[in-house]
Amino acid sequence: MTTSAIAVTGLRKAFGDKTVLDGIDLDVPAGTVFSLLGPNGAGKTTTVNVLTTLTKADSGTVRVAGHDVATDAKAVRSAIGVTGQFAAVDELLTGRENLQLMVDLSPGAGNEVVGRLLERFDLAEAADKAAATYSGGMRRKLDLAMTLVGDPQIIFLDEPTTGLDPRSRRTMWTIIRELLADGVTIFLTTQYLDEADQLADKIAVLDKGRLVAQGTPEELKRQIPGTHVRFRFGSVEDLDTAARIMPDSTRDDDALTLRVPSDGGTQSVRKLLDRLDEYSVDADEFSVNTPDLDDVFLALTGHDTAEVVAK
Ligand SMILES: Nc1ncnc2c1ncn2[C@@H]1O[C@H](COP(=O)(O)OP(=O)(O)O)[C@@H](O)[C@H]1O
Ligand SMILES: [Mg+2]
Repeated sequence: MTTSAIAVTGLRKAFGDKTVLDGIDLDVPAGTVFSLLGPNGAGKTTTVNVLTTLTKADSGTVRVAGHDVATDAKAVRSAIGVTGQFAAVDELLTGRENLQLMVDLSPGAGNEVVGRLLERFDLAEAADKAAATYSGGMRRKLDLAMTLVGDPQIIFLDEPTTGLDPRSRRTMWTIIRELLADGVTIFLTTQYLDEADQLADKIAVLDKGRLVAQGTPEELKRQIPGTHVRFRFGSVEDLDTAARIMPDSTRDDDALTLRVPSDGGTQSVRKLLDRLDEYSVDADEFSVNTPDLDDVFLALTGHDTAEVVAK
């Protein structure tokens, strides 16, 4: 039997008359990565804050590491580590001093952990420079290293890679995988479908305070359109012709666009272009698209992510 690291039922939270979480149920088995996927303003940070005892829920039950967050916040706190969306690093201190501060605040943590974490996160060289001089990626790594000082069983990562360059994102992914291999449970929020896909055992999609889908990355991807080529035409006539000659395509008459399933490789794209040429149809524009958060939202909710933000 698997035990739940996190079990949430009927979680609700409002700020004033604005409902931010509208009845959330989720279960995260110990030793897995769970990803909460949603656009800006969906309620991800609020969820993390409730689960990590920083914010009180209005109703519902939340158990983390077997403890109720409402009645046993202290036990929850001693089992978890949290890396917030905005790094908790003190910029005036060096990397080493930031870590040492965490060690001093954590009963049971030994000083030797500082050097070990600096090595592990590839920060040894910069250890004695002020954190203010660190790049975004280094700061996130330091923040995560600080989280690990207390040896938490469950780690909450709130948008750990937002704003990072691709290389730093990949480094962060590697670190997350290593933590998982160590047996840690990870609750990860993200705005990136590919990140959730890469890392998560299970993904939940958050929209306007409700979970609109939950499942493995495979289950989720079956519900959304895959990689496709998108054409835009200058006239309805061209769109008509293209829609007729492109198998399995989906048209949008307002935008004069056609979405054609494709692996996006040069061979198959060339075939599509040749086919248009054969029928003397010119596309004004074409692009190859791999599914992203917008596609997920359109497929699952019928609206795009912008409307969620605008709400
Ligand atoms: N302390 C607060 N007071 C009022 N509204 C808040 C507060 N915290 C968050 N919100 C609102 O709740 C919604 C969800 O915010 P948040 O959980 O930060 O979303 P996310 O992390 O997914 O971007 C947003 O509309 C935000 O403005
Ligand atoms: Mg947030």
